[in-house]
Parts: sequence; C-alpha cells; structure tokens
Amino acid sequence: MSELSVNHLLGIKYLKREDINLIFETADHFKEVINRPIKKVPSLRDVTIANLFFENSTRTKLSFELAEKRLSADVINFSASQSSVKKGETLIDTVNNILSMKVDMVVMRHPNPGAGVFLSNHVKASIINAGDGAHEHPTQALLDSYSIREKLGEVAGKKVVIVGDILHSRVALSNIFALQLQGAEVMVCGPKTLLPKHIASLGVKVETNLRKALEWCDVANMLRVQNERMDISYFPSTREYAQQFQLNKNLLESLDKEITIMHPGPINRGVEITSDVADSGQAIILDQVENGVAVRMAVIYLLASKIKQ
Ligand code: CP
Repeated sequence: MSELSVNHLLGIKYLKREDINLIFETADHFKEVINRPIKKVPSLRDVTIANLFFENSTRTKLSFELAEKRLSADVINFSASQSSVKKGETLIDTVNNILSMKVDMVVMRHPNPGAGVFLSNHVKASIINAGDGAHEHPTQALLDSYSIREKLGEVAGKKVVIVGDILHSRVALSNIFALQLQGAEVMVCGPKTLLPKHIASLGVKVETNLRKALEWCDVANMLRVQNERMDISYFPSTREYAQQFQLNKNLLESLDKEITIMHPGPINRGVEITSDVADSGQAIILDQVENGVAVRMAVIYLLASKIKQ
C-alpha cells in the first residue's frame, strides 16, 4: 500500500490496518528527520494548512504546528476565543472564509462530536480531526500505538488497559479502535459511573479493580478525569477516586512484572498518577509527545500527497 485509503483523517474507525502500517513506516522516516541537525524537509512547500482550535490544547496544537513547519508547509493558526465565532459566525462560514485564502488542509479541534465529518461534507479541503468532543482523537491514538510499537516491538498480541474517565474520553475510543485494528487486546478500567454502559459491545474487557487490571496488562494508559465535560458528580471526591484508581509507586512495585506506563496528557499529578510514577523509567509519556510530531508529519504528508493528485 503506497497511499492512504482515506482523503481525511476523521477517526480511527475509518482506517484500515494497512493505513496504520503506512503511517507508521512514514513516521519512522520522519522520526529520523526530526533528530537530524537540520530537522526540516521541503516536501510541503506548496501546501497551506490552517489549524483551527475551538477548544483548548497544548500538546496537539504545538505538535501539529511543529509537524507542519518541519514539512515546510505554510501555516495559519486560529483560536476560537480570539475570533469572530464570538460574534455569532457559523462553523461553515468561518471555515469557508479561511479556505478563500487558498488553504489546502484544515486541522480542527472542536467540542462537538462529529464536527470534522460535518466539515468534510461541506468544504473542499482535507480535514484532520484533532479531537472532537468525547468522540475521537485519531492522531493521539496513532502516536500512542506508535509508542507501544517502539517500546515493545509490536502492538499485535499486547494487552493494554485504559484507566480512568472512559465515559468522556475521545482518547479512549480512538485507542480502542486503533489497538484492536492492530491485534492488541484492550481492557477499560475505572469507576462504574465513568464506564459507558455498552462499552463491552466494542469487544473490550471491563474491570473496576485497578490492581487486577494492572496484573493483566503489558501497558497501562492512564487518563485524566475530564471535569470540564462533567455537569454532575461521578464519584464522591477526588481523594476517593485517587484511593481506588491512582497509579502510585507502591502499586507498581507490588506487581510481579514491569509494565509500560502511558498518559496522553495533560497530567493531573497526584490524582490519576503520582509524580514518581509519571517521571519513572517505566513511563513513556515524553516519548509519546516526541513521537506525536513524527506521526503527525506522516499523516499530513500522506494526506497532502492525495490532494496533489
Ligand atoms: N493529549 C492532548 O490532546 O493534549 P492537549 O489537550 O494539550 O492537546
């Protein structure tokens, strides 16, 4: 396979396993590039990309911008809080105005699930979903799987538990799709109130005991509690949540094997993970961030090759 089967990256659920293999092979090349003294290639000198962020972001926004600049694309940045969206402009009007400035590709983070799909049906540009509400965050799942492959050799056959607020997490859903597509076994673990009712129908194991989940897994992906998406309380207190679902050094050292620890960020130190674990040799959290640039370069490069045809 030499090109992606899709024209947009809207979610992992639209990808084939071969797409992921192609993205990873391309990312291997770009990882080598970004570790050279001159970290840049001229591949996308004729491509203009707009980064539209209607929701807060640190890692994803910076990582996309860096990936685009490393590929020599022209980049424009838009953040909703400083725009005319506040004056009542619709999403399509905003994007069409930006596209009139001859933009080829749009990277969008939006609070509404399905915003990327909606946009792809209404505008002529390649769309990359940088997180749509509690739905999908495909590049996060790709960089997570890429980091597992780098650390453990392959994703197939590995046991991965995703721990925490599964209910409000786009990272969880995209990771479930990506890991299963590559032949990994997936478990979700968290308080019952933060596990979607029908999550088992996705073919994942479900566990509410963190120790049992950690004893089962090769990799634990710790998620933050997304208070910003909660309008009611889902557990009695942060202290009680941490007592049952926090990954700390005592728990980690009591296991009879060494597991790999991941976190998509932002971390709430002392809640879902303690600092000594987050900063330990078992954690690959900063490798995930580094790999994010290479993986996003690969996605942008492969989608841009399709625009040019
Ligand atoms: N992992 C992630 O999406 O982080 P940001 O919200 O900072 O982009």
